Amino acid sequence: MLTVHVNGEERDTPRAERNLLSYLRFDLGLTGAKYGCGEGLCGACTVLVDGQPLRSCMTTVGAVAGGDITTIEGLSSGETFEDLHPVQQAFVDEQAMQCGYCIPGFVMGTVGLLNRESSPSTAQIREALAEHMCRCGTYQRIERAVERAAQMRSGGAS
Ligand code: FES
Repeated sequence: MLTVHVNGEERDTPRAERNLLSYLRFDLGLTGAKYGCGEGLCGACTVLVDGQPLRSCMTTVGAVAGGDITTIEGLSSGETFEDLHPVQQAFVDEQAMQCGYCIPGFVMGTVGLLNRESSPSTAQIREALAEHMCRCGTYQRIERAVERAAQMRSGGAS
């Protein structure tokens, strides 16, 4: 039996070779991470492992068993708007969602970016999110949301 840490809880799994995205969605019911391409290209399945983004569609549970896995469900309780993580709030404030399918991946990618770089440049934002796809094309709003999130973290956003 393998123990993994997901959103601050210990979970047991008998199958180290289980695909991480499938494990999260089907075994744990954490459906925030989405299946898009299944090939590591679209970013819809992005989760954090030890604070950094990882494509869960391309990873086995065994490969991340020693790390702290965070899905979008682990960012906030989601019960009220006041509980939103600052990055989630920034995406709401900038109306960055259209259909919303890709947004959990973008949010997790942004959290990972801000964990590495608290005040990213436009070039750093574009590089960090370059392999996230939005079929609705809200890239400009997403970019503004990332900038707003960085400002919120530094206490500068209104
Ligand atoms: Fe994992 Fe597209 S579903 S990168």
